Amino acid sequence: MFCLILIISFFFFISPIFGQTSCIKTYSNLAINGNDIHGVQGSSSSCCQYCQQIRGCQAYTWNTFNGGTCWLKNDTQPLYNSTGEYTGILSPGANNTYSLLKSYDASNWFNNETFVFNSFHYTDHKNGFVNYVDYETAKSEGLVGVQNGKVYMGMDNTTILPPNSTIGRNAIRINTLIRFNSGLFIFDIDHMPTGPGLWPAFWTEGPKWPSNGEIDMLEGISEQNFNQITLHTGENCAMTANDSRYFTGKWNYGYGNNTNSGCDVLAPNGTFNTGFNQASGGVFVLEWDREKFIRIWNFVRPNIPEDIAKASPNPNPSTWGMPTAYYTLGPNCTPDHFNNNTIIINSDLCGVAGTAFQGGELVCEDVARNHPEEYSDAYWLINSLKVYCKPNTPCPN
Ligand SMILES: *[C@@H]1O[C@H](CO)[C@@H](O)[C@H](O)[C@H]1NC(C)=O
Ligand SMILES: *[C@@H]1O[C@H](CO)[C@@H](O)[C@H](O)[C@H]1NC(C)=O
Ligand SMILES: *[C@@H]1O[C@H](CO)[C@@H](O)[C@H](O)[C@H]1NC(C)=O
Ligand SMILES: *[C@@H]1O[C@H](CO)[C@@H](O)[C@H](O)[C@H]1NC(C)=O
Ligand SMILES: *[C@@H]1O[C@H](CO)[C@@H](O)[C@H](O)[C@H]1NC(C)=O
Ligand SMILES: *[C@@H]1O[C@H](CO)[C@@H](O)[C@H](O)[C@H]1NC(C)=O
Ligand SMILES: *[C@@H]1O[C@H](CO)[C@@H](O)[C@H](O)[C@H]1NC(C)=O
Ligand SMILES: *[C@@H]1O[C@H](CO)[C@@H](O)[C@H](O)[C@H]1NC(C)=O
Ligand SMILES: *[C@@H]1O[C@H](CO)[C@@H](O)[C@H](O)[C@H]1NC(C)=O
Ligand SMILES: *[C@@H]1O[C@H](CO)[C@@H](O)[C@H](O)[C@H]1NC(C)=O
Repeated sequence: MFCLILIISFFFFISPIFGQTSCIKTYSNLAINGNDIHGVQGSSSSCCQYCQQIRGCQAYTWNTFNGGTCWLKNDTQPLYNSTGEYTGILSPGANNTYSLLKSYDASNWFNNETFVFNSFHYTDHKNGFVNYVDYETAKSEGLVGVQNGKVYMGMDNTTILPPNSTIGRNAIRINTLIRFNSGLFIFDIDHMPTGPGLWPAFWTEGPKWPSNGEIDMLEGISEQNFNQITLHTGENCAMTANDSRYFTGKWNYGYGNNTNSGCDVLAPNGTFNTGFNQASGGVFVLEWDREKFIRIWNFVRPNIPEDIAKASPNPNPSTWGMPTAYYTLGPNCTPDHFNNNTIIINSDLCGVAGTAFQGGELVCEDVARNHPEEYSDAYWLINSLKVYCKPNTPCPN
């Protein structure tokens, strides 16, 4: 009888009571800040089982407190460096699992049900020396198409512009028809535009800029070999010093120093420009949890997380480690700073990129006008842009 009770209690103890969770990822020397349900004394190898028994437990961090303590967590983030601590992630419950909302790829990219081609040019060249063309023009000039199952979007590389032209080089700017309020966005590309004075970007923007936000996941100018991640918002959105513990990029504190920007994070060398293309590209990811955070990862091939590389139907950002950039949403930046964002992909020329160009904006425009052959690498080669949502979240709406 004693033996039976022992066996029953033993099974009770180890069986996951709340759903079929398992521990899918462990990290050494990383801890999750806050989000404690409570602490349980034990060895690091026992933490997963403790977590499985507690409703709402999604992860744990173990440290040597009180001879060894499993800190059971109701969230899988934010991660920060902490020598000697271990963190384990449980498989997400249904409410925390991402599934595919929309895949943008060669099969639908140009079918007018996915993207709008923006057709305009800037009258003030500080915004760039380009002429964004509509789909029909882009197609007839060979600026867009499908190559080996990948989406190609280039820039005019044959026309010498008239010396007096105030309108810049033909280029592409598109935005999604769908507007988003949260979600997981995975942009997988083999090649990004490069060339003199280029200023390519993959970003989001809400209406009435900047009051509904802008998230720049991929942006830079031709002199850079690293990606520059930035938010632009309305007033009362601050990035706090503590956030810098939660990402691997370099906080370019005070960059721009104007009223709507300053949350600028630099990714490592190789995440932008020719070095990135020579590596056959990579993946840029935005995870926008409307209540908690915006986090961004830059992955360069071959270092792509397995679930992304294998096109898992349920990619799990909690298994990808510390992000390249992390922004807390909460009291210092309320979630309503970001609403109804479309996703934009464009290649600009000169303007902001001209100010950093050797010789300045006018030399940049001179090259842009007279040297079309310089823009043969000014193209995107895109595998896909996939958007995933969690259940019961305002992903598109
Ligand atoms: C998670 O735990 C923290 C306390 O550590 C609490 O403030 C928060 O509300 C909890 N979140 C959820 C979703 O239970
Ligand atoms: C999932 O979310 C729904 C709606 O918010 C809620 O009713 C349900 O209790 C949640 N399930 C779990 C396991 O948390
Ligand atoms: C796409 O093109 C078709 C045919 O020209 C048109 O009927 C439809 O309204 C267009 N859809 C959008 C979203 O522009
Ligand atoms: C540029 O010069 C040409 C030839 O003189 C003229 O036809 C054209 O209108 C001018 N364009 C502009 C924008 O001034
Ligand atoms: C910010 O970091 C400091 C020290 O690293 C810590 O004491 C403080 O609790 C942190 N604040 C928050 C809100 O996490
Ligand atoms: C965390 O530690 C790693 C490895 O020691 C280091 O490369 C990285 O810069 C650290 N990150 C932060 C945010 O301190
Ligand atoms: C930003 O502007 C403020 C107010 O003008 C000034 O005090 C601060 O030094 C500036 N910071 C940088 C990095 O330029
Ligand atoms: C990044 O690249 C620049 C330019 O090539 C170089 O000067 C710098 O040392 C590199 N930084 C790192 C951390 O490798
Ligand atoms: C976002 O778009 C929806 C649908 O058009 C609209 O009802 C809502 O008011 C918009 N939100 C903001 C903050 O503009
Ligand atoms: C224009 O660029 C495309 C794409 O790189 C290239 O195939 C083509 O040869 C270039 N055309 C000229 C005239 O350089």
